[in-house]
Amino acid sequence: MLILGIETSCDETAAAVVADGRRVLSSVVATQFELHAQYGGVVPEIAARRHLESILPVIQAALDRAGVSPQEIDGLAVTQGPGLIGALVIGMAVGKALALAWDKPLAGVHHLQAHILAAFLTDSPPEFPLVALVVSGGHTNLYQVHDFQRLDLLGRSRDDAAGEAFDKVAKLLRLGYPGGVIIERLAAQGNPATFHLPRPRIPEEPLTFSFSGLKTAVAHQVKNHPEVLTDPGVRADLAAGFQEAVVDCLVGRAWLALEETGCQRLVVCGGVAANGRLRQVLQDKAGAEGYELFLPPLSLCTDNGAMVAAAGYHRLRAGERLDMSADVFSRG
Ligand code: KG4
Ligand code: ZN
Repeated sequence: MLILGIETSCDETAAAVVADGRRVLSSVVATQFELHAQYGGVVPEIAARRHLESILPVIQAALDRAGVSPQEIDGLAVTQGPGLIGALVIGMAVGKALALAWDKPLAGVHHLQAHILAAFLTDSPPEFPLVALVVSGGHTNLYQVHDFQRLDLLGRSRDDAAGEAFDKVAKLLRLGYPGGVIIERLAAQGNPATFHLPRPRIPEEPLTFSFSGLKTAVAHQVKNHPEVLTDPGVRADLAAGFQEAVVDCLVGRAWLALEETGCQRLVVCGGVAANGRLRQVLQDKAGAEGYELFLPPLSLCTDNGAMVAAAGYHRLRAGERLDMSADVFSRG
Protein backbone atom coordinates (compact mmCIF):
# COMPACT_ATOMS: atom_id res chain seq x y z
CA MET A 1 0.00 0.00 0.00
CA LEU A 2 1.60 3.28 -1.16
CA ILE A 3 0.91 6.41 0.89
CA LEU A 4 1.87 9.99 0.04
CA GLY A 5 2.57 11.90 3.27
CA ILE A 6 2.46 15.71 3.49
CA GLU A 7 3.95 17.70 6.38
CA THR A 8 3.76 21.50 6.85
CA SER A 9 3.31 22.00 10.61
CA CYS A 10 6.28 24.31 11.18
CA ASP A 11 9.17 25.39 8.97
CA GLU A 12 9.82 22.33 6.80
CA THR A 13 7.78 21.70 3.66
CA ALA A 14 7.94 17.93 3.27
CA ALA A 15 6.43 15.09 1.26
CA ALA A 16 7.27 11.41 0.98
CA VAL A 17 6.06 8.15 -0.51
CA VAL A 18 6.12 5.17 1.86
CA ALA A 19 5.20 1.55 1.15
CA ASP A 20 3.26 -0.38 3.83
CA GLY A 21 4.10 2.10 6.59
CA ARG A 22 7.67 0.87 6.55
CA ARG A 23 9.66 1.29 3.35
CA VAL A 24 10.60 4.89 2.38
CA LEU A 25 10.53 5.20 -1.42
CA SER A 26 11.23 8.94 -1.33
CA SER A 27 11.42 11.71 1.26
CA VAL A 28 11.78 15.32 0.17
CA VAL A 29 12.26 18.12 2.71
CA ALA A 30 12.50 21.80 1.76
CA THR A 31 13.78 23.53 4.85
CA GLN A 32 13.11 27.22 5.46
CA PHE A 33 15.64 27.87 8.19
CA GLU A 34 17.63 30.40 6.15
CA LEU A 35 14.43 32.47 5.84
CA HIS A 36 13.84 32.58 9.59
CA ALA A 37 17.47 32.77 10.74
CA GLN A 38 17.57 36.57 10.61
CA TYR A 39 14.64 36.68 13.09
CA GLY A 40 16.14 34.09 15.46
CA GLY A 41 13.05 31.87 15.20
CA VAL A 42 10.15 30.83 12.98
CA VAL A 43 7.89 33.67 11.80
CA PRO A 44 4.48 32.00 11.21
CA GLU A 45 3.32 34.21 8.30
CA ILE A 46 6.61 33.80 6.44
CA ALA A 47 6.49 30.03 7.01
CA ALA A 48 2.96 29.81 5.61
CA ARG A 49 3.83 31.81 2.50
CA ARG A 50 6.90 29.66 1.80
CA HIS A 51 4.87 26.44 2.27
CA LEU A 52 2.46 27.71 -0.36
CA GLU A 53 5.32 28.27 -2.82
CA SER A 54 7.11 24.98 -2.10
CA ILE A 55 4.41 22.41 -1.49
CA LEU A 56 3.51 21.38 -5.05
CA PRO A 57 7.12 21.14 -6.31
CA VAL A 58 8.01 19.14 -3.16
CA ILE A 59 5.12 16.70 -3.74
CA GLN A 60 6.05 16.36 -7.41
CA ALA A 61 9.67 15.64 -6.44
CA ALA A 62 8.53 13.00 -3.92
CA LEU A 63 6.46 11.23 -6.60
CA ASP A 64 9.27 11.49 -9.18
CA ARG A 65 11.95 10.16 -6.84
CA ALA A 66 9.72 7.26 -5.81
CA GLY A 67 8.99 6.59 -9.47
CA VAL A 68 5.23 6.42 -8.90
CA SER A 69 2.34 8.22 -10.57
CA PRO A 70 -0.66 9.66 -8.69
CA GLN A 71 -2.74 6.73 -9.99
CA GLU A 72 -0.44 4.27 -8.21
CA ILE A 73 -0.85 5.97 -4.82
CA ASP A 74 -3.33 4.16 -2.54
CA GLY A 75 -3.96 7.06 -0.17
CA LEU A 76 -2.75 10.35 1.25
CA ALA A 77 -1.90 11.51 4.74
CA VAL A 78 -1.55 15.05 5.97
CA THR A 79 -0.50 16.55 9.31
CA GLN A 80 -3.62 17.95 10.99
CA GLY A 81 -1.88 19.33 14.12
CA PRO A 82 -0.43 20.38 16.45
CA GLY A 83 1.59 23.16 14.81
CA LEU A 84 1.33 26.64 13.36
CA ILE A 85 -2.20 27.15 12.04
CA GLY A 86 -1.21 29.17 8.97
CA ALA A 87 1.38 26.55 8.06
CA LEU A 88 -0.91 23.56 8.68
CA VAL A 89 -3.75 24.89 6.52
CA ILE A 90 -1.51 24.87 3.44
CA GLY A 91 -0.77 21.15 3.75
CA MET A 92 -4.38 20.41 4.66
CA ALA A 93 -5.79 22.31 1.66
CA VAL A 94 -3.39 20.57 -0.71
CA GLY A 95 -4.07 17.15 0.86
CA LYS A 96 -7.83 17.56 0.51
CA ALA A 97 -7.57 18.91 -3.04
CA LEU A 98 -5.34 16.04 -4.23
CA ALA A 99 -7.48 13.42 -2.47
CA LEU A 100 -10.56 14.75 -4.27
CA ALA A 101 -8.83 15.21 -7.63
CA TRP A 102 -7.19 11.76 -7.55
CA ASP A 103 -10.16 10.09 -5.85
CA LYS A 104 -8.00 8.63 -3.04
CA PRO A 105 -8.68 8.29 0.70
CA LEU A 106 -7.14 10.90 3.02
CA ALA A 107 -5.97 10.47 6.63
CA GLY A 108 -5.42 13.33 9.09
CA VAL A 109 -2.35 12.66 11.22
CA HIS A 110 -1.28 13.85 14.68
CA HIS A 111 2.22 15.30 14.32
CA LEU A 112 3.59 13.76 17.53
CA GLN A 113 2.22 10.30 16.72
CA ALA A 114 3.89 10.68 13.33
CA HIS A 115 7.24 11.39 15.03
CA ILE A 116 6.88 8.08 16.96
CA LEU A 117 6.06 6.24 13.72
CA ALA A 118 9.42 7.38 12.28
CA ALA A 119 10.94 4.61 14.42
CA PHE A 120 8.92 2.04 12.43
CA LEU A 121 10.45 3.04 9.08
CA THR A 122 12.95 0.20 9.26
CA ASP A 123 13.20 -3.52 8.51
CA SER A 124 13.11 -4.38 12.21
CA PRO A 125 10.50 -2.08 13.81
CA PRO A 126 9.71 -2.21 17.53
CA GLU A 127 6.93 -4.30 18.99
CA PHE A 128 4.37 -3.03 21.50
CA PRO A 129 4.07 -1.99 24.26
CA LEU A 130 6.78 0.64 24.36
CA VAL A 131 7.69 3.95 25.95
CA ALA A 132 8.12 6.84 23.49
CA LEU A 133 9.92 10.09 24.24
CA VAL A 134 9.07 12.76 21.66
CA VAL A 135 11.58 15.60 21.87
CA SER A 136 10.99 18.35 19.35
CA GLY A 137 10.96 22.13 19.05
CA GLY A 138 7.40 22.35 20.36
CA HIS A 139 7.04 19.31 22.64
CA THR A 140 8.78 17.11 25.17
CA ASN A 141 6.27 14.32 25.75
CA LEU A 142 6.59 10.85 27.28
CA TYR A 143 4.04 8.23 26.26
CA GLN A 144 3.23 4.64 26.92
CA VAL A 145 2.28 3.29 23.49
CA HIS A 146 -0.01 0.24 23.44
CA ASP A 147 -0.49 -0.10 19.66
CA PHE A 148 -0.67 2.06 16.53
CA GLN A 149 -3.85 3.77 17.69
CA ARG A 150 -3.63 3.86 21.51
CA LEU A 151 -1.15 5.81 23.59
CA ASP A 152 -1.22 7.35 27.08
CA LEU A 153 0.60 10.54 27.97
CA LEU A 154 2.88 9.88 30.96
CA GLY A 155 4.55 13.29 31.24
CA ARG A 156 5.48 16.44 29.36
CA SER A 157 7.22 19.76 29.80
CA ARG A 158 5.41 22.28 31.94
CA ASP A 159 7.21 25.13 30.15
CA ASP A 160 9.77 25.11 27.31
CA ALA A 161 10.25 22.08 25.07
CA ALA A 162 13.77 20.63 24.93
CA GLY A 163 14.30 21.82 21.32
CA GLU A 164 12.99 25.25 22.25
CA ALA A 165 15.55 25.36 25.09
CA PHE A 166 18.34 24.52 22.59
CA ASP A 167 17.11 27.30 20.29
CA LYS A 168 16.80 29.87 23.11
CA VAL A 169 20.21 29.04 24.59
CA ALA A 170 21.77 29.31 21.11
CA LYS A 171 20.26 32.78 20.91
CA LEU A 172 21.66 33.68 24.38
CA LEU A 173 25.10 32.52 23.24
CA ARG A 174 24.66 34.45 19.95
CA LEU A 175 25.08 31.30 17.89
CA GLY A 176 22.24 31.68 15.42
CA TYR A 177 19.24 29.56 14.43
CA PRO A 178 18.28 26.71 14.52
CA GLY A 179 20.10 26.13 17.78
CA GLY A 180 20.22 22.37 18.27
CA VAL A 181 22.75 21.45 15.62
CA ILE A 182 24.94 24.50 16.31
CA ILE A 183 25.07 23.79 20.06
CA GLU A 184 25.85 20.12 19.43
CA ARG A 185 28.78 21.04 17.17
CA LEU A 186 30.16 23.57 19.67
CA ALA A 187 29.59 21.33 22.69
CA ALA A 188 31.82 18.66 21.15
CA GLN A 189 34.77 21.01 21.79
CA GLY A 190 33.78 21.95 25.35
CA ASN A 191 34.06 20.51 28.85
CA PRO A 192 30.58 19.83 30.28
CA ALA A 193 31.89 19.95 33.88
CA THR A 194 33.18 23.56 33.78
CA PHE A 195 29.80 25.16 34.50
CA HIS A 196 27.44 23.79 37.13
CA LEU A 197 23.95 23.88 35.71
CA PRO A 198 20.75 22.61 37.33
CA ARG A 199 18.77 19.51 36.36
CA PRO A 200 15.30 20.93 37.11
CA ARG A 201 12.79 18.41 38.47
CA ILE A 202 9.41 18.55 40.11
CA PRO A 203 9.45 16.04 43.00
CA GLU A 204 5.68 15.55 43.11
CA GLU A 205 5.52 15.00 39.32
CA PRO A 206 8.57 12.86 38.54
CA LEU A 207 7.75 12.44 34.82
CA THR A 208 7.18 16.16 34.20
CA PHE A 209 9.96 18.08 32.45
CA SER A 210 10.93 21.72 32.97
CA PHE A 211 13.56 23.50 30.91
CA SER A 212 12.92 27.21 31.47
CA GLY A 213 14.97 27.24 34.72
CA LEU A 214 17.90 25.70 32.89
CA LYS A 215 17.68 28.38 30.21
CA THR A 216 17.60 31.06 32.96
CA ALA A 217 20.66 29.47 34.60
CA VAL A 218 22.51 29.76 31.29
CA ALA A 219 21.42 33.42 31.04
CA HIS A 220 22.87 34.05 34.54
CA GLN A 221 26.17 32.46 33.54
CA VAL A 222 26.34 34.67 30.44
CA LYS A 223 25.70 37.72 32.64
CA ASN A 224 28.22 36.72 35.31
CA HIS A 225 30.89 35.58 32.84
CA PRO A 226 30.79 37.98 29.86
CA GLU A 227 33.87 36.22 28.46
CA VAL A 228 31.44 33.45 27.40
CA LEU A 229 30.56 35.61 24.41
CA THR A 230 34.13 36.45 23.43
CA ASP A 231 36.17 33.39 24.36
CA PRO A 232 35.29 30.44 22.07
CA GLY A 233 36.64 27.89 24.59
CA VAL A 234 34.45 29.18 27.45
CA ARG A 235 31.44 29.37 25.15
CA ALA A 236 31.99 25.74 24.13
CA ASP A 237 32.18 24.75 27.83
CA LEU A 238 28.83 26.41 28.54
CA ALA A 239 27.23 24.82 25.46
CA ALA A 240 28.54 21.42 26.58
CA GLY A 241 27.29 21.95 30.13
CA PHE A 242 23.84 22.91 28.87
CA GLN A 243 23.62 19.97 26.46
CA GLU A 244 24.68 17.55 29.20
CA ALA A 245 21.99 18.90 31.55
CA VAL A 246 19.28 18.45 28.89
CA VAL A 247 20.50 14.92 28.12
CA ASP A 248 20.50 14.02 31.84
CA CYS A 249 16.90 15.25 32.23
CA LEU A 250 15.66 13.41 29.12
CA VAL A 251 17.42 10.11 29.84
CA GLY A 252 16.50 10.18 33.55
CA ARG A 253 12.78 10.65 32.87
CA ALA A 254 12.75 8.09 30.05
CA TRP A 255 14.23 5.47 32.41
CA LEU A 256 11.77 6.34 35.14
CA ALA A 257 8.97 5.78 32.61
CA LEU A 258 10.46 2.41 31.59
CA GLU A 259 10.63 1.34 35.24
CA GLU A 260 7.13 2.59 36.06
CA THR A 261 5.47 0.94 33.06
CA GLY A 262 7.60 -2.21 33.03
CA CYS A 263 8.18 -1.71 29.28
CA GLN A 264 11.38 -3.12 27.78
CA ARG A 265 11.40 -0.95 24.65
CA LEU A 266 12.14 2.74 24.25
CA VAL A 267 11.61 4.95 21.18
CA VAL A 268 13.23 8.40 21.21
CA CYS A 269 12.20 10.63 18.31
CA GLY A 270 11.67 14.25 17.20
CA GLY A 271 14.28 16.83 16.19
CA VAL A 272 16.30 16.66 19.42
CA ALA A 273 16.68 12.88 18.94
CA ALA A 274 19.14 13.82 16.18
CA ASN A 275 21.53 14.97 18.92
CA GLY A 276 24.64 12.79 18.90
CA ARG A 277 25.37 13.08 22.62
CA LEU A 278 21.78 12.12 23.52
CA ARG A 279 21.94 9.13 21.15
CA GLN A 280 25.25 7.99 22.60
CA VAL A 281 24.07 8.16 26.25
CA LEU A 282 20.82 6.36 25.36
CA GLN A 283 22.67 3.62 23.45
CA ASP A 284 25.19 3.09 26.27
CA LYS A 285 22.54 2.90 28.98
CA ALA A 286 20.12 0.72 27.00
CA GLY A 287 22.99 -1.63 26.07
CA ALA A 288 24.23 -1.87 29.66
CA GLU A 289 20.77 -2.50 31.12
CA GLY A 290 19.28 -4.72 28.42
CA TYR A 291 16.56 -2.42 27.07
CA GLU A 292 15.68 -2.33 23.38
CA LEU A 293 16.28 1.17 22.00
CA PHE A 294 14.85 2.48 18.72
CA LEU A 295 16.18 5.73 17.27
CA PRO A 296 15.06 6.88 13.81
CA PRO A 297 17.89 7.77 11.41
CA LEU A 298 18.85 11.47 11.67
CA SER A 299 16.90 12.53 8.56
CA LEU A 300 13.70 11.06 10.03
CA CYS A 301 14.11 12.67 13.49
CA THR A 302 13.42 16.21 12.27
CA ASP A 303 10.14 16.94 10.48
CA ASN A 304 9.55 14.90 7.33
CA GLY A 305 6.74 13.48 5.20
CA ALA A 306 7.70 9.81 5.62
CA MET A 307 6.61 9.71 9.26
CA VAL A 308 3.28 11.27 8.25
CA ALA A 309 2.80 8.66 5.54
CA ALA A 310 3.58 5.88 8.05
CA ALA A 311 1.04 7.22 10.55
CA GLY A 312 -1.51 7.70 7.76
CA TYR A 313 -1.03 4.12 6.58
CA HIS A 314 -2.14 2.75 9.96
CA ARG A 315 -5.12 5.12 10.15
CA LEU A 316 -6.33 4.23 6.66
CA ARG A 317 -5.87 0.52 7.34
CA ALA A 318 -7.97 0.91 10.47
CA GLY A 319 -10.71 2.35 8.25
CA GLU A 320 -10.30 5.97 9.27
CA ARG A 321 -10.99 8.69 6.70
CA LEU A 322 -10.57 12.41 7.26
CA ASP A 323 -13.85 14.27 6.93
CA MET A 324 -13.48 16.85 4.16
CA SER A 325 -14.85 19.51 6.54
CA ALA A 326 -12.24 18.69 9.22
CA ASP A 327 -9.99 21.54 10.28
CA VAL A 328 -6.40 21.76 11.50
CA PHE A 329 -5.58 22.26 15.21
CA SER A 330 -2.73 24.13 16.89
CA ARG A 331 -2.56 22.27 20.22
CA GLY A 332 -3.38 18.88 21.65
O1 KG4 B 1 10.82 17.72 15.28
P1 KG4 B 1 11.33 19.01 14.76
O2 KG4 B 1 12.01 19.01 13.42
O3 KG4 B 1 10.21 20.08 14.67
C1 KG4 B 1 9.18 20.18 15.62
O4 KG4 B 1 8.22 19.38 15.55
O5 KG4 B 1 9.33 21.06 16.49
O6 KG4 B 1 12.33 19.57 15.88
C2 KG4 B 1 13.01 20.77 15.73
C3 KG4 B 1 13.84 21.01 16.99
C4 KG4 B 1 14.52 22.39 17.00
O7 KG4 B 1 14.26 23.00 18.24
C5 KG4 B 1 15.99 22.05 16.83
O8 KG4 B 1 16.86 22.97 17.48
C6 KG4 B 1 16.08 20.68 17.47
O9 KG4 B 1 14.89 20.03 17.10
N1 KG4 B 1 17.24 19.92 16.96
C7 KG4 B 1 18.27 19.53 17.73
C8 KG4 B 1 19.20 18.90 16.87
N2 KG4 B 1 18.68 18.92 15.60
C9 KG4 B 1 17.48 19.56 15.68
N3 KG4 B 1 18.49 19.67 19.06
C10 KG4 B 1 19.66 19.18 19.54
N4 KG4 B 1 20.60 18.57 18.78
C11 KG4 B 1 20.42 18.40 17.44
N5 KG4 B 1 21.34 17.81 16.69
ZN1 ZN C 1 8.09 17.82 14.59
